Amino acid sequence: MSVNPQHIYNFPFEKFESADQLNKEEKALVEKAGEVATRAYAPYSNFRVGAALLLENGKIITGSNQENAAYPSGLCAERVALFYASSQYPDVAVKAIAITALRNKQPIDEPVPPCGSCRQVFVEWEKRFDRPFTVIMAGKKKIIRIEQAGWLLPFNFQSDFL
Ligand code: THU
Repeated sequence: MSVNPQHIYNFPFEKFESADQLNKEEKALVEKAGEVATRAYAPYSNFRVGAALLLENGKIITGSNQENAAYPSGLCAERVALFYASSQYPDVAVKAIAITALRNKQPIDEPVPPCGSCRQVFVEWEKRFDRPFTVIMAGKKKIIRIEQAGWLLPFNFQSDFL
């Protein structure tokens, strides 16, 4: 089948080799994500994810993945952090999220991409607060920084469709 695209989706992102190349605020966020990852409840996957949010009011909110023997009942670190932030500060937008992970308790080299469900939640957050936020996926050897979370989920579902 030949493809003749009339439209191409692409978006910019930055790549770094270490958190030292980020600004001070974002470096601190990556460190917080690494700390909270150690407190994940991940007895089934042994994959511990940490997410740290920087809110518009300067607060940092963190979350780690929480698993359950009934697997789908667990929740990703990103959504633990976002839902907690919304519970505490329902009117405060997110400026940035840093995500990192430990595999079998060792920090991973590669950046962790948020799952599709988390991306869907990111999109709703940006729309809800009318503010895009930065996503920093941090591995030990590679960090990816994206200015707008929604770029990670083209053709996303939004409340306008309801
Ligand atoms: N997980 C997250 O917390 N965030 C992600 O971005 C990817 C996956 C969790 C879910 C599950 O507890 C474990 O990692 C393995 O999938």
